[in-house]
Amino acid sequence: MNIAVAGTGYVGLVSGVCLAQIGHRVTCVDIDPAKVELMRSGKSPIFEESLEQLMAENKERLFFTTDGAQAYRDADVVIIGVGTPEKKDGSANLAYVFQAAKEIAHAIERDCVVVVKSTVPIGTNDKVEALIRAELKHPVWVEVASNPEFLAQGTAVRDTLHANRIVLGVESERAEQVLRRMYQGFEDVPVLVTNRRSAEMIKYASNDFLALKISYINEIANLCELVGADIMDVTLGMGYDERIGNKFLRAGIGYGGSCFPKDTKALHWLSNYLDYELKTVKAAIEVNDQQKLKLLKKARKHYPGFEGLTVAVLGLAFKPGTDDLREAPSLHVVPTLVEDGANVHAWDPVAQERFQDIQDDGVTYFSSPIEALKGADLCMILTEWPEVIALTPEDFKTHMKTAIVLDGRNCYDLKQFMGTGVTYESIGRARME
Ligand code: UDX
Repeated sequence: MNIAVAGTGYVGLVSGVCLAQIGHRVTCVDIDPAKVELMRSGKSPIFEESLEQLMAENKERLFFTTDGAQAYRDADVVIIGVGTPEKKDGSANLAYVFQAAKEIAHAIERDCVVVVKSTVPIGTNDKVEALIRAELKHPVWVEVASNPEFLAQGTAVRDTLHANRIVLGVESERAEQVLRRMYQGFEDVPVLVTNRRSAEMIKYASNDFLALKISYINEIANLCELVGADIMDVTLGMGYDERIGNKFLRAGIGYGGSCFPKDTKALHWLSNYLDYELKTVKAAIEVNDQQKLKLLKKARKHYPGFEGLTVAVLGLAFKPGTDDLREAPSLHVVPTLVEDGANVHAWDPVAQERFQDIQDDGVTYFSSPIEALKGADLCMILTEWPEVIALTPEDFKTHMKTAIVLDGRNCYDLKQFMGTGVTYESIGRARME
């Protein structure tokens, strides 16, 4: 099939590359000429395992352009994968989606299905379809379908090629058949066909449920600290229950990234707009906002102020395997430390450069965790990179001036720290000295 993709962010680019991988001819469109040039040269603008390799393997049927009209004109399917960033009030900004829809309407010259892959509020697909039909320049059959994406950063290619499910939100048999054909090459992935609004809701309900699960376990972890229980044992015990499952129960300093923070706020905003308060999601948001500050609170118990202190911050990305900083706890923690007069020694294997663009003053960047630890009065672990997990109590003891380690990701076995002279505090577990 001939497929065009509008937007080459995580969703657009990964979907485009994976559809080329199963044999389709795919043209990816982006408004940024520099990004298009980069992708034409075989480079991915995002840090994602095996993406460049697949780009190279499929270069005969994978094209990149800034010329949307050309790409959309004779496509069987046009996928909208542009961003839906958060507006100041928490609602989703749909300007890019509608802009892309308008361009598609002006360009298409043959029957096609326009697929909305971007995460959009329930009811948006109806609006996109109305807009496209109103703006059409040629008398063609066009229908909009919702086909949400469930990929996680760092595992995006695998999550797409071996998805848990493919959700097709369609309003006609014809659109369903077109999309079933597009996904034929994704063998063994269950396909669920619903109406458009249910498909839009499946995406939000899934993401918000996962966010809720994390906030719930973070609250239980906070309580574990107060009652002397151990969150690792507690989650282990909970996870044996198949109804609960053992995934997404890792306590820490809160969720970040481009989806959970935005999608929880967008659904909460939408429900408020409809005069319904989504209390559970609201609580998940509030708990997460507090959890991001948890290490700072712990640090203030050791040092009332940070003036003149050297603080090693290990990990800046919102999770390992990505250089993405969106909504990362580091964006709250590091500026607060700097504002309070600390000298921050930061380390992250891939997100350092991006972070430096945001925060240069008061931060020195190092090429290894050990270098960052040297002379530190305090260490905060914000991302569980393998290089951080590989550190030993001896490393902290040897290199830090005062070996106080505040671990926001529960990277180590507690017993390791027993009697080492390192003060080790983590989330939902006992303090070790
Ligand atoms: C998420 C969803 O997993 C994906 O299905 C959706 O399409 C987009 O949003 P992503 O944001 O890339 O993907 O990362 P994910 O691995 O889900 O982690 C999100 C955040 O939750 C990270 O900050 C991570 O550290 C945190 N997290 C995750 C926890 O704190 N505990 C957990 O148990 C799991």
